[in-house]
Parts: sequence; C-alpha cells; structure tokens
Amino acid sequence: MSMIDWRKARSNFLLDDSIIYLNNASHGPLPVPARRVYDLYLDSWQKTAHNHDAESFKIIEAVRGKLAGIVGVDFQRIGLSTTTSYGLNIIAAGYRWSSGDNIIVSDNEFPANVYPWVRLKSRGVDIRFAKNNQGFIDEEAIISLADNKTRVINTSWVQFNNGYRADLEKLGRFCADNRIIFCVDGIQGLGAMPVDLESLKVDLFTCGCQKWMLGPCGTGFYYLSERAESMIDPPFSGWLSVDWQVDFSDLMKYDLTPRKGPAKFELGTYPYQDIRALNASVDLLLSFGLPEIWDRVRRLTEQLIDILDSDKRFHLVSSRDESRRSGIVAFKNQDPMKLYRYLTDEGYILSFREGGIRVSPHFYNSEEEINLLISALDHFQG
Ligand SMILES: Cc1ncc(COP(=O)(O)O)c(C=O)c1O
Repeated sequence: MSMIDWRKARSNFLLDDSIIYLNNASHGPLPVPARRVYDLYLDSWQKTAHNHDAESFKIIEAVRGKLAGIVGVDFQRIGLSTTTSYGLNIIAAGYRWSSGDNIIVSDNEFPANVYPWVRLKSRGVDIRFAKNNQGFIDEEAIISLADNKTRVINTSWVQFNNGYRADLEKLGRFCADNRIIFCVDGIQGLGAMPVDLESLKVDLFTCGCQKWMLGPCGTGFYYLSERAESMIDPPFSGWLSVDWQVDFSDLMKYDLTPRKGPAKFELGTYPYQDIRALNASVDLLLSFGLPEIWDRVRRLTEQLIDILDSDKRFHLVSSRDESRRSGIVAFKNQDPMKLYRYLTDEGYILSFREGGIRVSPHFYNSEEEINLLISALDHFQG
C-alpha cells in the first residue's frame, strides 16, 4: 500500500475549481515547480547578459540522465528532441533504404507513426498496414506481414484512442531475431507507467513530454540502440551535433567530431527554458516514483471501468485485460457526441476520439473527481 499523500500531490497544480481535468492523453498540466522555472530563468537572464550556457548545459545533461534512468538505459543512449515525431524521422531519414524494403504499422495508428514512412514510397519502400483486431493492435497480424525485406516495425506503446497497451516484449523479440528495427512511440504510456527498455528489445523509443510526463510542449526525447544507430547514416547535422565541451571561444573550428551516440542528432540551440521546466516536471514524477504513479492511475481508471462495465447504457471501448491497460479509458453510448457535449458542459475536460469518449486521469486526480464523473454519467438523459 502506497504511503503517498495523493491529496497533497494535487497542490503541485493550478487547476481551476470550475473544471475537472481528465485529459492527460491530450496535454498534461504544467506543475507549479515547472511554471516557476520560467520566471526564475527569465529574471536571471535579464540580469546576467545571457551568460547561461554553462548552467543550462549542466541542466540539459542532468535531464538526459534522469530520462535515461526513467526508461532504464545508459544516459549516452538518450537524445533530446522537441516531439515524438522527431525520433521516428531519424530512422525514416537515416536508414539506408533499398527499393523493395517494407515497414509494418498497425492500420489504426496515430498519424505520427505513419507519415514518416509514407514519404519513403517515392524510394520504392512499401508500407504494410496490419489489420487491427476490434480496434486493438494485433501483434500476430503485424508479425504475419513480415518477410525478409521488412526493415522496420513501428508501434505505439499505448494506443491514443482506446489506451490499448502493445506487447512490446513479443514484438521486440521478433524484431531482434529477424534484424528488424523496432520503433516505439512511447508518448501515451511514459509518465503514467514505468518501462524498462533494457529488458525489452526496443531500438527506438521516442516520446514527447507534453502529456503524461507533464512537461512543456516542445520537449521530448528518444532512446536509440547501438544496433539501430549502426544501421543509419546521420540524415542531418548542426553546430550542436559536434562536441564543443561547452567552450564556444573558437566557433570557426569546423573539424570537430560528431557527438557520440544519439546526441549527434541534436542540432542547434536548445529550448533552455523549456528543458529547465521539464527538469522540474521530471523531478516531480521521480519524487513519487513511476511504479507508484502507475498504481495510482490504475486504481483511478479501475474505478471508472467497473461502473462502465456494469451499466448497460455504456460500452467500454478499452480492454479490461490487466496487461493491456493504461491511463486511458474510452467508452461509448448510443450517441457519444451528445454525451461528450453534455460532459463538457458539466465542466469535464476530456477528449472525443474516433467516435468514443476518452478519459485520462493522472496521479493528481482524485477518487472524488472520478465519482463526480460517474454521477454525471448516471444523471445523463440520452
Ligand atoms: C500515440 C501518439 N503519438 C504521437 C503524438 C504526438 O506526436 P508529437 O509529439 O510528435 O506531436 C500523439 C498525440 O498528440 C499520440 O497520441
């Protein structure tokens, strides 16, 4: 039993009393310590004539280390980015493609997992869409489409619309056995759930930090395995892709060597203020612990799932299978748009996705808030 006082955890957020925010799968609210960072940074920036390089670079490396710790890998395998999409594009743009190669994705993926590959069609690369199984990604269907020309299998860890958690172990093992690059979009899982990439054979794990990680928009990171790195040529390079040792006194030295590992895909000036804010958000997550947060999120979602499952007016779209659950609960009724509008009018912030209502509570939400939602559903006349 967790000893964390989750009510106190709520005080880290400035959420308006007139709404109940259950929309972390869309955007997470920025915690108070992260908001404070902006003021502190901008104030001191004005006073010290931009002399922030050394301090900012220290924080950048600290964040890299903390993110590496969260996903269970060496910090040298982590690159900082601005979006989930960036990581996927490193593979799409950098792999040595040949005409006739193919890539497999599920046919109901979030588009961030489709467009990086679509543009490869002009180079003779085939995208194969594996049929979903009643809205859920089907690992067997993905595997059955693979052949000796399959170069990449790409999946979301957690599906954006119904929260279905992919079996990364199964897909990772298959990819490793067949020399296929395994790309995982982690954005709908990380921050709500723990992951240990060391034990999974993932080649690329890419994650924007604007949702469950509670960071600002424009922050993100990727893990790239040594194996995958050896299969790609850097598709782009910038002045911060090389090793300066943070000494910018000799900028016309053009022969510096690229940084080691995935950091060589970091191109130019970092969003210092945002990375500093992300640092504060990550510290907050770590102060509770990802396993503890997942336990909390699991309990809150369970509370809702139990009711939806027992009320004949509603149809649970998400899976009940423990190994397939996540922070997302999706459901429908006969007229989901009408129900969505009603809930929005009542002050619930949630999403309408692919014909269903998506609820996505985080650790700072309370049992009372879920009970209020349940009672609003109970009162719905529709
Ligand atoms: C599964 C999934 N991947 C990616 C994204 C966003 O991608 P990016 O961080 O590149 O904007 C979202 C939602 O916005 C998503 O639900």
